[in-house]
Amino acid sequence: GRVAVIYGGLSSERVISLRSGAEVLGGLQRAGVDVFGIDLGGEQGDLNPLTQLMDAEFDRAFLILHGPGGEDGTLQGVLEMLGKPYTGSGVAASALGMDKVRCKQLWAGAGLPTPAYAVLTESTDLTAVGEQLGWPIFVKPAHEGSSIGIAKVTNLDELKKAYQNAAELDSLVLAERWMSGDEFTVGVLNGQALPVIKLETSHDFYDFDAKYESDDTRYLFEHGLNETQEQALKQLVIDAFDTAGCEGWARIDVMQDGEGAFQLLEVNTAPGMTDHSLVPMAAAQQGVSFEQLVVEILRQTVR
Ligand code: DAL
Ligand code: MG
Repeated sequence: GRVAVIYGGLSSERVISLRSGAEVLGGLQRAGVDVFGIDLGGEQGDLNPLTQLMDAEFDRAFLILHGPGGEDGTLQGVLEMLGKPYTGSGVAASALGMDKVRCKQLWAGAGLPTPAYAVLTESTDLTAVGEQLGWPIFVKPAHEGSSIGIAKVTNLDELKKAYQNAAELDSLVLAERWMSGDEFTVGVLNGQALPVIKLETSHDFYDFDAKYESDDTRYLFEHGLNETQEQALKQLVIDAFDTAGCEGWARIDVMQDGEGAFQLLEVNTAPGMTDHSLVPMAAAQQGVSFEQLVVEILRQTVR
């Protein structure tokens, strides 16, 4: 049947999704799939997304929207109602993956490690948060991706400013304990962990520029973990994926704390597929070409 690659969207990650969408479309075309693209809400949002979906003729969808309105269960719900199979997680896991606070609560409740945090509101005593978490602290809008609105702060003044800034982007803001260890990301495809990638950046943390623009960010498959640690990390990632009820594929970000223990940061249920993105790199490391990767992700919709 005919496949629609649905990309674009109206979140602040729209520009990344356009890049991911173009890559996925190209990969499926080269693999001989009958495919076309839908830029959801395209033309500066002039088009009604529901009309676009109802007018388009397709049998299944490859979803590569990032952020709210596409990665968060809303689009998945529309496709359920239209009876169209789609790639990746369903409604509930997509919504959960897009909410860093609820996802951490779920993992913590299941006994999986995730850094200590506090939800910040107008009335939060930020001094107490500083004492509770210790400096530095990460401030994050709960529903953004690609590190948008994230700040690493080292004192009360910076914490106030970072909160104000994040609160303009999102109605839910969290402060998270800084992890002093290394950062890793692990893709999941069909229930298996892809090769572990260690992230090294000259930036203060792995921010938007380090993710998509900078050429001096290093992605290391020589991650320095011994076999036992690597297996433990992969198992944690699979447990986190399963606990959140994810399906198909995802990418999970993890940091090591000062004692070397792994701590779950977040799950991305529609991870980036740009030429700077990590899941394609991890697949290639395992000998899976980009074309094979997108076909494999799509296969989920015909099982
Ligand atoms: N949110 C971005 C696209 C990622 O996780 O890769
Ligand atoms: Mg994310």
